[in-house]
Amino acid sequence: MTALSKPRILFFDSGVGGLSVYQEVQKRLPDCHYLYCFDNAFFPYSEKSEALIIERVNKICTHLDRLYALDLIVIACNTASTIVLPSLRQHFSIPIVGTVPAIKPAAEYSSTKHIGLLATKGTVKREYIDHLIEKYAQSCRVEKIGSTKLVELAERKLRGYPVDLNDIRTELSEWIMMPDLDAIVLGCTHFPLIKSEIQQCLPQVSHFIDSGEAIAKRIAFLLNEVKVRSKNHMISQVFYTKPFIIEDDLSECLHALGFEQFSLIHINS
Ligand code: DGL
Repeated sequence: MTALSKPRILFFDSGVGGLSVYQEVQKRLPDCHYLYCFDNAFFPYSEKSEALIIERVNKICTHLDRLYALDLIVIACNTASTIVLPSLRQHFSIPIVGTVPAIKPAAEYSSTKHIGLLATKGTVKREYIDHLIEKYAQSCRVEKIGSTKLVELAERKLRGYPVDLNDIRTELSEWIMMPDLDAIVLGCTHFPLIKSEIQQCLPQVSHFIDSGEAIAKRIAFLLNEVKVRSKNHMISQVFYTKPFIIEDDLSECLHALGFEQFSLIHINS
């Protein structure tokens, strides 16, 4: 890739969770222009209606595409990806990459064939998940926990607040009692950000699986086919949908990840 033909890739999430996916992609593909948008006006997506999420994600992606001529969009949010991908793909001609829970690898890695899906309350209820389980994990007993609290804890961690393991234990209490549970799908992009804390609460689990690396691989493949739309240089930047005070720790973290500018975008609900 030459300096003048760097693809513009948008990462979208309700909050900071998508940064866990971005990190994997940026590690593999450092030579792209990155935009990261979090819809903090509607955070958390966990318990919002499907129709509302579909409308928000379409509006925001369309808005940013008009402004920046995007080359690829990553919906770095399982709660949104499990419902929004068909409408986005209908609307956009650029590649749309979703993030969906890694049920298939978890079923393959598990020796006890007892696995868990840890996701948001919205994701665990989706038909999409029932199909994934039916297709890839028929040989397994699949437990599900939907948690908004864990999403909030991950948000707080990136803002520099300590994570209390007791809060995590309370959320995972059913699983703590299951000694043969050996593979957990981190089916929310916020959860890799608190993986070490989750691991401490579930010592019997040998595999914690997220989708970050698989997405990075997929994007690397798709970029071979992408014709970059704008040759202009741009800095990597963050967008949000509601004014907020960026705590020092979060600002430091975003800068360390390569983002140089933060801007508010106005989206009518
Ligand atoms: N990070 C999002 C996901 O992967 C959801 C967070 C939220 O509930 O807003 O599902």
